[in-house]
Amino acid sequence: MSSDLRKRLLEAFTSRPDQYISGQELANVLGCSRTAIWKHIEELRKDGFALEAVRKKGYRILNGPKKIIPDEIRFGLKTKSIGRSIYYEETVESTQKIAHKLSIEGAENGTLVVAEEQLGGKGRLNRQWHSPKFKGIWMSLLLRPNIPLMHAPQLTLLTAVAVVQGIEEITGVQAQIKWPNDLLINGKKVTGILTEMQAESDRIQSVIIGIGINVNQELGDYPEDIQSIATSLAIETKEIWNRAQIIQAILMQIEKLYTLFLENGFYPIKLLWESYAVSIGKKVTARTLAGNMQGIALGITDDGVLLLKDENGETHHIYSADILI
Ligand code: BTN
Repeated sequence: MSSDLRKRLLEAFTSRPDQYISGQELANVLGCSRTAIWKHIEELRKDGFALEAVRKKGYRILNGPKKIIPDEIRFGLKTKSIGRSIYYEETVESTQKIAHKLSIEGAENGTLVVAEEQLGGKGRLNRQWHSPKFKGIWMSLLLRPNIPLMHAPQLTLLTAVAVVQGIEEITGVQAQIKWPNDLLINGKKVTGILTEMQAESDRIQSVIIGIGINVNQELGDYPEDIQSIATSLAIETKEIWNRAQIIQAILMQIEKLYTLFLENGFYPIKLLWESYAVSIGKKVTARTLAGNMQGIALGITDDGVLLLKDENGETHHIYSADILI
C-alpha cells in the first residue's frame, strides 16, 4: 500500500476516533476504490490496529495499534533532526546496542531506535530492564552534540524533563523526577533513562540516551519483586495509550529543549528539572557504594551532581546512588 494513502487513512481515523466512517466516504476522501480501502484496512489490522467494521455504518478505530507504527510517529512530527531517522524492530536484545552500532556506522544526529520487546534490556548500574512485548516504549536516541564531555550528563536531565512534558501532554499526568533520572507517578517508577557515550580522547562522538517507559502494563505483567515499586501509565490512568503518539510528543519536546540547551546553556533546563524533581528540599537517604548518607537534597550542580546537606551542615556531592525519599 502506498505510504501516502496509508498515512491519510490513519489521519482520517485518528481525527474522528469515536466515529464510524463509511467505506464510500473514505474512498472519496482518499480518491480510491472501496476495494482499495478494504485492502488498506486489512493491512492496518495486520499491523495491530483494532478496526471495527459495522454494516451500513462503516469503519471505526477502536484503539491504537498493538504495534508501534513508525509512520505514525513520523506523521505530523515537526522536528528538524530528532527522530527524522527511525529504526524499528520487533524483538531486540537492547535498543542501546543497536544505537551504538549505528553510531559507529555514522548514523546522523537524532536517529531513533525503537523496539517492541527487549530480551536483554539494560538498566543503570548493570541492572536488567524488564521490557515486555507491545507494552512499553523501549527506545534509544542518538545525539551528536558539540559540547564538552563533562556536560554529557546534562542531556540525561534534559531528557527526563522532555519525557515528563511529553507524557503530560498526551495523558494529562505529571510524573515527578527522582534524581538522577527516574520518573515516578504516585511514588512508583514509570520511566528509567540510561545514558551511554562514545568518545574519543575528550571529544564526544555520540551520546546514546535509552528511554524505557512503562505504558500499557498491568500489575501482573511485572515480575513479583518489582510490583511494589513499578507502575505504568495504564495502571495510573486506567486507560490504554497509543505509544506512537507518546513517542512523537517526547521527540518534539526533546528537540525544543535541545535547541534551548544549545542556544542558552544548561541553566533553563536545570530550572525545569528542579521544578519537576521530587527530592529537592526533602530529607533523603543516598544509598552509595560507600554506604548510606542522609541529608537534605539541595539541588543539582551544572554537571548533574546531587548536592546533599548532612545534619552537620556539610554539603556532599553525590555522583552515583539510589535515592530513598
Ligand atoms: C534505569 O532506570 O535503570 C534505566 C532504564 C533504561 C531502559 C531503556 S529501555 C530502552 C533502552 N535500551 C535498554 O537496554 N535500556 C534502555
